[in-house]
Amino acid sequence: SNSTACKAVRSATSVETTEVTELNWDNLGFGLVPTDYMYVMKCSSDGIFTNGELKKFGPIELNPSAGVLNYGQGLFEGLKAYRKADGSILLFRPEENAMRMIDGAARMCMPAPTVEQFVDAVKMTVLANNRWVPPTGKGSLYVRPLLMGSGPVLGLAPAPEYTFLIFVSPVGNYFKEGLSPINLIVENEYHRATPGGTGGVKTIGNYASVLKAQKIAKEKGYSDVLYLDAVHKRYLEEVSSCNIFVVKGNVISTPEIKGTILPGITRKSIMDVAQGQGFQVEERAVSVEELLNADEVFCTGTAVVVSPVGSITYLGKRVEYGNSGVGVVSQQLYSALTSLQMGLAEDHLGWTVQ
Ligand code: COI
Repeated sequence: SNSTACKAVRSATSVETTEVTELNWDNLGFGLVPTDYMYVMKCSSDGIFTNGELKKFGPIELNPSAGVLNYGQGLFEGLKAYRKADGSILLFRPEENAMRMIDGAARMCMPAPTVEQFVDAVKMTVLANNRWVPPTGKGSLYVRPLLMGSGPVLGLAPAPEYTFLIFVSPVGNYFKEGLSPINLIVENEYHRATPGGTGGVKTIGNYASVLKAQKIAKEKGYSDVLYLDAVHKRYLEEVSSCNIFVVKGNVISTPEIKGTILPGITRKSIMDVAQGQGFQVEERAVSVEELLNADEVFCTGTAVVVSPVGSITYLGKRVEYGNSGVGVVSQQLYSALTSLQMGLAEDHLGWTVQ
């Protein structure tokens, strides 16, 4: 199956005829730009994925009774490919995404591709879409792997067939604010996750369920919502699409992973980078009072990278950070992380993959 897919890569790169002309590399946001190829691999109830191949990017066919459509049996991942100054392409910690998909698949009663299958498939898909990887410094190619119950079910049960799919899109900044600080509102009515639920895995339903609170917040002018724990309504969990950090003096704290928070790869990387820079990094319950008393607040995620928070509104009270500029710690961590991701800094930890 590997050799079939490799042949597909070669033909994919040799049939490039249309140039990327209409796309303005200086104006990329975070929206879908259709690209050339997607990767598709299936497995039936034996749990073994085989015969992965690149296909022209486009609509897929699903049985109306597919598990993913009826009962939400689906997971997604997100990672980025960066163009280096020498033209080569770097992936950032793709094995971490593969392992997170394996963990999430276990929670959702799905089989998953192996780490090797996942990483190989990401490489093939990125190479096949080489011309869509933005020039160095202009953004990145966002890679979106999906895993879904594609086989038919009617009664509630795991699907009899699964599809692993990867598509890609060139992207720039996630928030319309760009790198300027975002304004968050602490959500006091809706919750994203509960103990024993699926908040700790990247299942598609976690993202559908936050749309309503996000919509209300956006209508009021906020960038997004920060969720509190459902039990005490007092401890920070995460923003709809990213993890949260608070800075106080030399201490950087972030909510611990305990089943209700997505174990972000950027989160984990930033913790290591901050420790390396001499900060004391703590993973623990972080209260909303601490948040309001912090020196600086920032979010992390693959899509958002490191996003400084300019203000938090909690029960009608607004607290501002960083004198409406980017906080020093956020700026320092953003620079350190993106230098690694773009291959500008020495990768001592072996996080990047060519
Ligand atoms: C990512 O940061 O890659 C995510 O998966 C979050 C998504 C809502 C864009």
